[in-house]
Amino acid sequence: RRLCASADTRQPLAYLRLRRAIRTVVEHRDIEPGQALPSERDLSQALGLSRVTVRKAIAGLVEEGLLTQRHGAGTFVAERIVKPMSRLTSFTEDLRARGLNPRSEFFERGIGEVTPEEAMAMNLSPGVAVVRLHRVRYAGDEPLAIERSVVPASVLPDPMLVHDSLYEALERRNARPRRALQRLRAVSLGAQHARLLHVPAGSAGLSIERRSFLDDGRVVEFTSSWYRGDIYDFVAELHTD
Ligand code: GLP
Repeated sequence: RRLCASADTRQPLAYLRLRRAIRTVVEHRDIEPGQALPSERDLSQALGLSRVTVRKAIAGLVEEGLLTQRHGAGTFVAERIVKPMSRLTSFTEDLRARGLNPRSEFFERGIGEVTPEEAMAMNLSPGVAVVRLHRVRYAGDEPLAIERSVVPASVLPDPMLVHDSLYEALERRNARPRRALQRLRAVSLGAQHARLLHVPAGSAGLSIERRSFLDDGRVVEFTSSWYRGDIYDFVAELHTD
């Protein structure tokens, strides 16, 4: 019903409106993770849209990771968190797009002198000041990841500017990263990380390092994360050229 109400078919680019409408439905949990979407045919009939339009809207959301398609079975709201690797998004944005409630618990939110290792990783001069964040990232009560971020104080002068989301704080300072390099590695979670993530020690995890940059090439963050392997899928579109 909500889909019908918000997918105004008179609009040009109806597929974009339908895409937005489906996203809203998922965010409001009108269709829960794991549940099926109405079939393409039913959607196109109910909304008075062509099958091509419906298919295009769904394809976009599959690419975003919000929906998954099982051959012959239909289209479902994704159960695992599917994160497209080619998009430079934040933890907060990824979760909100799925109707989940992102939250951080801080172990550390301070400022100090860069360590030689961090200075090398971020191409900073020895001795400059950096903000350090060490947090467990939650969806509601469920811990999903542990993150350690280092940000030059020249970009973010005060760690308390980060209330929950680092990228929101950077955005407010006009320093939202535009490009990033990311490394993913399979790990088995050690006792300490596993305890914080509420999984048995030795569970599968993904270690992710991200170095992100401003347009002018300055480094904004160096973040090491440990994501739960039982919840996250990282997907990418590949091209031959
Ligand atoms: C992801 C990235 C981190 C980045 C974080 C920002 O988790 N792996 O490199 O720092 O998003 O998220 P937020 O803005 O929610 O703090």
